[in-house]
Formats: sequence, C-alpha cells, structure tokens
Amino acid sequence: MEKKVYLRSSEWFGKDDKMGFVHRSWLKNQGHPDHMFRGKPVIGICNTWSDLTPCNGHLREFAEIVKRGVYEAGGFPLEFPVMSLGETIMKPTTMLWRNLASMDVEESIRANPLDGIVLLTGCDKTTPSTLMGAASVNLPTIVVPGGPMLNGKFRGRDIGSGTATWQISEALKAGTFSREDLIEAETCMSRSAGHCMTMGTASTMATMVEALGLTLPGASAIPAVDSRKKVMAHLSGNRIVEMVRENLKMSDILTRKAFENSIIINSAVGGSTNFIIHLLAIAGRIGVDLTLDDFDRLGSHIPLLLNLMPSGKYLMEDFYYAGGLPVIIREMIKYIHADAITVNGKTISENCRDAVCYNNDVIRTADKPLKENAGIVVLKGNLCENGAVIKPCATSGKLLKHRGRAVVFENIEEYHEKIDDPDLDIDENCVMVLKGAGPVGYPGMPEVGNMDLPAKLIRKGITDMVRISDARMSGTAYGTAVLHISPESAVGGTLALVKTGDIIELDVEKRTLNLLVPAEELARRKKSWTPPLPAADRGYVSMFIKHVEQADKGCDFDFLKGGSGSVVSRDLH
Ligand code: FES
Repeated sequence: MEKKVYLRSSEWFGKDDKMGFVHRSWLKNQGHPDHMFRGKPVIGICNTWSDLTPCNGHLREFAEIVKRGVYEAGGFPLEFPVMSLGETIMKPTTMLWRNLASMDVEESIRANPLDGIVLLTGCDKTTPSTLMGAASVNLPTIVVPGGPMLNGKFRGRDIGSGTATWQISEALKAGTFSREDLIEAETCMSRSAGHCMTMGTASTMATMVEALGLTLPGASAIPAVDSRKKVMAHLSGNRIVEMVRENLKMSDILTRKAFENSIIINSAVGGSTNFIIHLLAIAGRIGVDLTLDDFDRLGSHIPLLLNLMPSGKYLMEDFYYAGGLPVIIREMIKYIHADAITVNGKTISENCRDAVCYNNDVIRTADKPLKENAGIVVLKGNLCENGAVIKPCATSGKLLKHRGRAVVFENIEEYHEKIDDPDLDIDENCVMVLKGAGPVGYPGMPEVGNMDLPAKLIRKGITDMVRISDARMSGTAYGTAVLHISPESAVGGTLALVKTGDIIELDVEKRTLNLLVPAEELARRKKSWTPPLPAADRGYVSMFIKHVEQADKGCDFDFLKGGSGSVVSRDLH
C-alpha cells in the first residue's frame, strides 16, 4: 500500500469547500479529471523554453516527455513558463537579469500548488537563475539539463561554440577570414538543438548541477538531440514523484559537502569562471556559507582531466561518448566527499562506481592529467582587495608572472574606439585595463573581460596579453584575463584609480595582483575620484544597481540571501 505523505498541494486541492472548488474548477477547463486532484503529488515543470533562447528551443518537447514520466509514476504534472535568458541575444548582458529570473522562479513556485519541481535548463543563466529561485523555496527538486549541441563541423574539422567565435574574430582582424567564410561558419557551428558544446558556461553549469547531485547520474553531457536525453527526461519525471514521497528536499542535497564536490569537479573539467559567481549565489540562497577563498583552497590544485575546448581540443559530444561526468567523478573520488547524497537517493560514489572510460584522450586519469593544478586561482592585492580570479588552464601559460605598463580604457566604448587605432601606444608587454564593467558599473558585469587584442599586435603574431577588469569572461574564451576584480571600479575600488603608464604586477603562483603606485599617490587620486552617475534611475535596472552585491559575494541582491520557504499563509478569498 502506498505510504501517505503530506502534500503541500492539498492546501489548494484537498478541500471540498468554496476554495477547493475555486482551485480545482478553473484548472479542470484543461480537461484534468477529478482524480488528478486527489492525493497525487503535483509536479511543477519549470520551463525556460523561449524562441529567444535558442539553446533552450527544444525544451517544450522535453516538458511533454517529463510529463509522461510524472504521469507514469502517479503524479500530476503542471508546466509553467519562467523568464528565460538568451545569452547571445539579450543586451547588454543576461547577467543583468539572472536575479530577476530567479525571483520569477521563486515566486512562481511558492504561489502555486506544487509539491515537487523539475527545472528544465540549458543556456548559461537559465541554470543558476532557476536553481537560485528553487533553493529559496526548498521543495524536492530535480534538474533536467537540456544538453549540448552536436559538435560544430566546419570544412572537415570540429569547431566549438564560442571558442570558434573568438578565433574567427581574430582571423577577421588578421584578414585571413572572409565574409563568406563567416556566414558559412555560423551555420556549421550551431547545427543542432542544444547549448554551447564547449566547456563554456552552459556545460559548466550542467556539470555543476550533476556534481551537486541535482540530476540523475550522467545527465549533463548527453547531447540535446540524443534519444538518451529524452530517456533521462522521462526518468527524471518518474524520480521527482518519488522524491516528493520521500520528502527529499533541495536542502538535503545542497549541503556544504555537495558544494565542495562541485568546486573540485569544476576544476577537473576546466569549467568556466562564471561558475564561481553562480555557485556563491546558490549557496547563499540555501544557507551554505561558501566564500571566494574556498574556490582556490579546494580547487586550484586539482588536475585537469577533461580535454575539452577551451582548455583542450574535444567537445561535449566526445565527452559523452567517452563516458561523461560519472567517469570524472569516479576518477576524482578520493578528492571529493564520496558520501554526498544525490537526487536518486544514492551517494555520488554509488552513482559512478560502474562508470567506464571509452576514450582516454578525452578523459584523462588523475595520474596522467591534461594539466596539473588547473583550477581557478583567486588573486588578492591592492588592485583587488576583496579578490579577483584567473583561470590558468585557459591561458597561454607564459604570462602568469608578468609586470607591465597599463593601457587603460575607462569604459567599453573607449576600448572599442581605441583598440585598433594604429597610433595606440601599446605593445605585447602592456597590461590592458578595462574599467566600468562590473555589476554596478556596466551594469550587469558582462563577458567582456577577454578583450580582443589590438589588430596590429595580432598581425604581428601575438596571441596572448595580460588583461584585467571587473568584468566576467565567457566560459568559451581563453587568454591571460584577470576577472571579477572586487571592489569594482564604479564603487571606488583601486581599479578606478589606475592610469595609463602605471605599472601592474601579476603573480599567479603567489596569488597577487598589485598596482605599483605609492600609497600616498593612490590616496591623492582617491580624493579627486567621483563615482559615475547611475546607469538608470527607474525600474528594475535602478533596483539592480542599488542592491547587487560585488562579484566576490556572487552578485545576488542583498535582500535575496536565504529563502522564504514554501508556506503561504493566506488564501485568495
Ligand atoms: Fe546559450 Fe552558449 S549561448 S549556452
């Protein structure tokens, strides 16, 4: 006999009075029979599908597949749309709306008669925004990552989403790529449904979710168009109903151990620096005290096992065929908390025990990694009192200890205006400095930190320079880019005081980034510094500027830390 469990949805559907009538009757106009409202777990399918989020364009079909799994397990699925953030379309940057989307998710879940949640995610911000929102309500929750595109294929070779964009941009500047080449490459790169197939931010987020224990094992690497992705969606629909019956909530899975595991696995796969900001924000919502220093302490010494662009040469499709994330987790088991619980009720080590590697060049072993000490490094110094980050495995490796003359761009417009000016006084030893690209300053902290090099230096054959900013960088990008400088320039961080000609010293091994200008001179500059005018004085952007936290805290709103739970005490009549 089925075990009786308390269902939150019974507060809506479980009463045969006026309010029970109201809650059921209107929903019955969709053809749901009366027995669907009688004691079945109601599963909300939170869908980030949108025509304007191409990476999630297949998720409408996936919602139907999840529903089949929910029905089969005895649940009642109800799909609902939430704000979707299309990385390649939205201006000035999707990061400006990650928190807004998370509020949409949180309030949509809490206000409705839902017992368990399936998050359908894909493009970069659709994963952290839905997780942040769901974590603040803390119901049983499972994630179905939409999956990567098939490998890009251009003129007989693989090209990776995003990573090819940067290469093409440099080739255009160097004059080795024509307009016709460009148009052809566009279609060849994005040739199937799914998200970026490099280890960019979307793949990083999907990997992060699996490492946190919030997906079924092996879910993250399956290509969007592979039938096994549909099987995964169906099984996730089955499982969420059981999770409700077991009352296995998000907070049971998102423990400190799970976050630490995720940091370690992110290093082993060469994940994006954006991971830091999103993981900090998710931890803040579920009440786990994670700090920027944890990422260096736990992750920087971890070897890189996955040979994927931008750090290596393969793509997500190859990763899946090689065995996917369970192989990496099994290989890293001695580094992680093996007893962390996952959504299927088993531990992370039980889930990867039988994983088999089918391609040792794609997935290396911990003994013979692609690179040693490959995780993200956290820098401190007078240029970044609260921290900055760099991803050494995505750099040329030659500039990790470097001292150079600053060439300063006060904002992104000045950068675009001057960077290809033949008269710009810059050489390959200079340090490119971009201000005004932080959470408050841009606003929204866009992915402009991997500034393209000056065309005249690219033509000379220069492929890497030190670049520093308060911006983020696309997970598909590469280069010696110091990112996420905190405090940012717009709030008066030392970055605001840098002048062209100053000397900047980067030492990744020592974890330092310093502006070699005497303290008295910096104090003098600070006195005459005035903050920029706010970028907006009304609406959401105005609220964003007032409440967004700095990068080292995860860029969540100060009033969104923690959660409000799932209880709604008042009815609508
Ligand atoms: Fe959507 Fe890369 S643009 S995942």
